[in-house]
Amino acid sequence: MKKPLIKYLKDYRPPAFLVDRVNLDIDLFDDHALVNATLEIRRNEDISDPSPSLFLDGRELELLSIDLDGTPLTSADYETKEEGILVKPGKKPCVLKLTTRIYPRENTSLEGLYMAGDTFLTQCEAEGFRRITYFPDRPDVMSRYTVRITADKTRYPVLLSNGDLVSTEDAGNGRHRVCFEDPFPKPCYLFALVAGDLACVEDRYVTQEGKTVSLKFFVDHGDEDKCAHAMESLKKSMRWDEETFGLCYDLSTYMIVATHAFNAGAMENKGLNIFNSKYVLARPETATDTDYQLIEGVIGHEYFHNWTGNRVTLNSWFQLSLKEGLTVFRDQEFSSDTGSRAIKRITDVRTLRAGQFPEDAGPMAHPIRPESYIEMNNFYTATVYNKGAEVIRMIHTLLGKDGFRKGMDLYFQRFDGKAVTTEDFVKSMEDAGGVDLSQFRLWYSQAGTPRIRVERQFDPKARAYTLVFEQTIPDTPGQTDKRPMRIPVTLSLLDGNGKALPLDSNPGHAEKTPVNREARETFRFENIAEEPVPSLFRGFSAPVNVDAGYSHEELMFLMAHDTDAFNRWDAAQVLVLSAMNGLIELRRMGKTPVMDQRLIDAFEKTLLDTEADKALIAQILTIPTETELGDRMESIDVEAIHEARDFFMESLAKALYVHFRNVFENNRESGPYTIDPASMARRKLKNTALSYLALVEYNRADFVFNEFTQAANMTDKLATLTFLADMEHELADRALD
Ligand code: PHE
Ligand code: ZN
Repeated sequence: MKKPLIKYLKDYRPPAFLVDRVNLDIDLFDDHALVNATLEIRRNEDISDPSPSLFLDGRELELLSIDLDGTPLTSADYETKEEGILVKPGKKPCVLKLTTRIYPRENTSLEGLYMAGDTFLTQCEAEGFRRITYFPDRPDVMSRYTVRITADKTRYPVLLSNGDLVSTEDAGNGRHRVCFEDPFPKPCYLFALVAGDLACVEDRYVTQEGKTVSLKFFVDHGDEDKCAHAMESLKKSMRWDEETFGLCYDLSTYMIVATHAFNAGAMENKGLNIFNSKYVLARPETATDTDYQLIEGVIGHEYFHNWTGNRVTLNSWFQLSLKEGLTVFRDQEFSSDTGSRAIKRITDVRTLRAGQFPEDAGPMAHPIRPESYIEMNNFYTATVYNKGAEVIRMIHTLLGKDGFRKGMDLYFQRFDGKAVTTEDFVKSMEDAGGVDLSQFRLWYSQAGTPRIRVERQFDPKARAYTLVFEQTIPDTPGQTDKRPMRIPVTLSLLDGNGKALPLDSNPGHAEKTPVNREARETFRFENIAEEPVPSLFRGFSAPVNVDAGYSHEELMFLMAHDTDAFNRWDAAQVLVLSAMNGLIELRRMGKTPVMDQRLIDAFEKTLLDTEADKALIAQILTIPTETELGDRMESIDVEAIHEARDFFMESLAKALYVHFRNVFENNRESGPYTIDPASMARRKLKNTALSYLALVEYNRADFVFNEFTQAANMTDKLATLTFLADMEHELADRALD
């Protein structure tokens, strides 16, 4: 077997040659495509190498011709390597012309140019461009592209590439040709081409700078009526980035192609995003509330990449989190501003704990900026994306909203049009925000989820309260003896009524973000009359595991009273988890399970809470899934988890039946279906109540089946169908049919 080639961050060197311009002339045929590439090449002035050579990556290409400044090269003039060719262009700028033949129909790698049904499609991130032509396939080579596409007129009436359409012409033989020009230099991973028979849905948007942008969605014929929500989401994203970061769109057209056959979620190719249809198409009859929210989030994500990823890009794939962590943070903020911030936070932390925490604790643990890779495609991980976003969020917390904005401004001022590193980003934040982030940088290099243990002491005589934070960072493959990191701890101290105490002389300052820097560190609060309950890591201020040693009573208090919605939910999670562990333990000992009455009381309070956001109540009432429960256990007893969870929910449903029934009836659909946050919250709460009723209702299958039949939107349809499917009943089969 071939030994895999490992690439190391420490080996990074800037390219010896740059490609300023790329001209691609692509002829699409039934069984192959011809690619003519003209590359304008020059030496990179910053590199002093007496005899530099240019490596052009290439995979599964048939090289038909190659010439340098008009002179054909023979195989003696260049060196053929395993995955590319090595040429020696000399000192002066030169033009390299290459003709390659490729076979899109046979390309099943989902990279390069391939067929999705009857549509030609490209996917070049991370290293797919090398399947189209020979090229220095690395993101720090940025070029301006002109692309000509020629294809059959009737079978491929729509021909697209990045940038602006500059000409259309007849090419004879029933073929036509288009020419696109992208004025912005970009790395080749952002190149895109689409050719097919697609319908187009159009709208327009006027930027804050007064420029009119034409917005085009390309979808399968018949799907035109499912684009409205994605179109609205796109316009909202454009407005949001202007208002939040002063960032406007830069081309005159923004195109999105939606296809059922796209492997990943979506791809931010410059001016020509390619999406899986799941993240574009929606109508009430086909999409749930969650689908609508996902569409908005992914449309936003790809749009935001235009500045974080495209205008400023990566110098190597080790820096992937520079664009992905930052862009996930941006799409999270966007969704928080358009919907409910607290619910968005809870959902994101759920995702992080379910996907990233296990990754960080297992054999695949890696820092958000990996030190080495073999196959880049394996590094599109929850760590790079989601933990990466948490690290950006902590910078946001440390600098404050205004400081963060200044940092972003400085970042774009310094690096627009460049290929840079996470270090360049952190330095911009540091310089603009006036904070020292040297210790904070460890978040980029150390893997593993930090564990925080908190000790609490109250001295009534001195009226002083102390919190001791102890941080340990678990060993991960290849990393031991880690250094303490800088961890922002947003906190409040709550009095007996749940009111946050003033934390300094200003009574308005009831929330503070001290920073834990040492392995063991004490924070002291003065002038505290009675022992408070601390609300720690509010809004999940750092991606850590916390053991605050709360008693059952304190957790119930936080669940009912914490003014931080995230912590209210989190307290409920801890309570449910410990109750679940208790039930599993009883089962192991062969004893009859019993439900803790205090927990029933706590849930009753939640159900009767008329002030809190309905979506928050629904989240608190949502018991962790079996997978989530299993993830937090040392050894996973599948059956015990299943039984404990059923018993828990059934006990709650029986004890609080009347309340569940009321919540259910009071939140029924009235009037037409709308997807504003309040309506979605109401449906969520109603269906959560129904999930309990479905366990205990008299003639429960008939009851749920009746709801299923009457459901007027996909959210209700799918919820009721799910509850039915869990029952072994003839009506479940009927509903599924
Ligand atoms: N860059 C895409 C995104 O996050 C994800 C992606 C990576 C898609 C690689 C395809 C291939 O927005
Ligand atoms: Zn992304």
